[in-house]
Amino acid sequence: MYKVAVFVGSLRRESINLQFAKALAKLGASKFTFHFVELGDVPLYNEDLWVDPPASVLRLKQDIADADAVLFVTPEYNRSIPAVIKNVVDWGTRPHGQNSWSGKPASIVGASPGNVGTAVAQAQLRSILVPLGLLLLGRPEVYFTMKPDLIDENHDIIPDSTRKFLQGYLDKFESWIAKVA
Ligand code: FNR
Repeated sequence: MYKVAVFVGSLRRESINLQFAKALAKLGASKFTFHFVELGDVPLYNEDLWVDPPASVLRLKQDIADADAVLFVTPEYNRSIPAVIKNVVDWGTRPHGQNSWSGKPASIVGASPGNVGTAVAQAQLRSILVPLGLLLLGRPEVYFTMKPDLIDENHDIIPDSTRKFLQGYLDKFESWIAKVA
C-alpha cells in the first residue's frame, strides 16, 4: 500500500480534476492511500517568508516527505499549468539544499472538457519536474476528457473501457513506484 500525495491544480469546489482525482483514489484504493494536499492556503512564493515559514508551507513540505509518491492532477490554463501548481512546486524546492521533491516517484494526469486538454500543460509540468529530481512515470499518458456520465456521484468510473484503461494506468504507477522508490 503506497501513500500518494495528490496535488489537484484547481481550487474550485466543482473541479473536474478533483472529481477525476477522487475517482482514481477510489479505483486504486487497494493499492494506494491518496492524501489530498491543500494548495489553496499556501502563499505566493516569497523568499522572505523563510525567516518564519508559514504553517501551510511546513505542512506542504511534510506532506511531500511523508509520501511514497506524488501525483499531479492538473488542469490546463492558457496552454500552461495553473499558478497554484507552480507555486507549490517552487516552495517544495526550497530552502536551498532541501529540495523535497528529489527522488520522489511521480506521475502527471489531467482532465479537461476538451479533447486535447491538458496535453500542453502536462508537457510543461514534465519539463519542470524532471530537473527537480522527481522520478516521473513516462506512460501511459492520461489526458482525461471529462464528459457527462463518465464518473458518477460516488466517484465510480462508469464506462468499462475507461475504467480498464485507468486501472491499467494505476497498475503501471504502482509498478513504477516499486521499481524506483
Ligand atoms: C481554461 N481552460 C482551458 N482548457 C484547455 O483545455 N486548455 C486551455 O488552455 C485552457 N485555458 C483556460 C484558462 C483559464 C484561466 C481557465 C479558468 C480555464 C478550461 C479548463 O479546462 C476548464 O475550465 C476546466 O474545467 C478547469 O479544470 P477544473 O477547475 O474543472 O478542474
